[in-house]
Amino acid sequence: MDKMLVRGGRRLNGEVSTSGAKNSALKMLFASLLAEGRHVFHNVPELQDIISSAQLLESLNCSVERKGKTLIVDVKKPGSFEAHYDLVRKMRASILCLGPLLAKYGQAQVSLPGGCAIGSRPIDLHLQGMKAMGAEIELHQGYVHAKAGSASGRLQGASILFEFATVGGTENVMMAATLAEGVTIIENAAKEPEIVDLANYLNKMGAKIEGAGTAIIRVTGVEKLTPAEHEVVPDRIEAGTLLIAGAITGGEVTVKKCVPEHLDALILKMRESGFTIDTEKTSMTVRPCKEWKGVDVSTAPHPGFPTDLQAQFMTLMTVAQGTSVITETVFENRFMHVTELARLGADITPKARVAVVRGKPGLLEGAPVMATDLRASASLVLAGLVAKNETLVNRIYHLDRGYEALEAKLSSLGADIKRLKE
Ligand code: UD1
Repeated sequence: MDKMLVRGGRRLNGEVSTSGAKNSALKMLFASLLAEGRHVFHNVPELQDIISSAQLLESLNCSVERKGKTLIVDVKKPGSFEAHYDLVRKMRASILCLGPLLAKYGQAQVSLPGGCAIGSRPIDLHLQGMKAMGAEIELHQGYVHAKAGSASGRLQGASILFEFATVGGTENVMMAATLAEGVTIIENAAKEPEIVDLANYLNKMGAKIEGAGTAIIRVTGVEKLTPAEHEVVPDRIEAGTLLIAGAITGGEVTVKKCVPEHLDALILKMRESGFTIDTEKTSMTVRPCKEWKGVDVSTAPHPGFPTDLQAQFMTLMTVAQGTSVITETVFENRFMHVTELARLGADITPKARVAVVRGKPGLLEGAPVMATDLRASASLVLAGLVAKNETLVNRIYHLDRGYEALEAKLSSLGADIKRLKE
């Protein structure tokens, strides 16, 4: 397993570009199952999770070809409608093929994703949505067996109210509803920009979706969709991570090819902490700052503060002046980075979903640490950038699932960071 060696203390400066959003590209790849033929996606990041979803599509009889940042998916009718455990366990988002397969072919067998490092992450809300649309669902031998219950073999439009604004649940139901008979209304829908991007793609394919990005999404089912071409939206979490990288080293970094509007909550909190951040339509710049103060943050579904930036923001707070209270409301177990940050000297008390961070400039000192999940890994790399001496981040395969060429991007800004191959 590769490791990342970071020598801290260098101030980052310069410009860096954001890649396409993993969490948008993945869903679009699964959406392609809704229409046989050739789909073309631009700005697709080169990441392990994208490779995993391509493998799943290939197991369903599709062919996937990469040309630079473009991915061409040729969808053919699958021989079986099964997403195998070996593929799903590598990437939870594989459950997102359930809605498309069920809507298009009236049946699907998808392995249950199982446990996950950041909490139990159930899929009950996805299944509730499918059931409301008339699907017959059974769970046995670790698989979800789903069938469209109606005589026509199609799902039926329905009204669905989510108890929690689930991102994946909203996407799965929205995709399923595109080919259902009648109108589907999703209430308390998640509003993440990746959902809007997915809806834009589905509409290009001929779907009739209104309200994506708001709490109420209305989908009028159509009989058929056709393949289309689309450019994936920039990755707001990567953009936010790069902005924090500049901030934590006291440097001046411009993050280009991003949508600052998608990061309002982060920018607000960074400004409150003392940073100057200038935004343009597709770029943002953090100005040099010597000392910043601790601020409180609570994660929430979009447009609230993203849970996927909680760990990185916590690192920023470890070297702030004063205390910060960080509350995680989206996932039940998303503080695994705390014990690793403590190895670097951070002063953090976690209790259930709240962590009290007693920040102090210059506090961190390098040590070997272990990456536990994708965003936690990023928070440890950020810590390494300001820690004295060397920080060795182990198990960085997590990072490779979600950050395209992170070490190259940080090096281009002046960081002393290198990958140690094993
Ligand atoms: C997506 C993102 C992930 C991000 C998360 C929240 C992808 C591939 N992943 O994950 O990076 O951290 O949104 O912004 O896009 N829940 C249930 N039942 C369900 C579904 C969800 O109880 O059926 C709970 C989850 O356990 C969790 C919360 O709802 O506590 C949020 O989950 P959800 O919004 O569904 O996240 P994902 O789609 O899994």
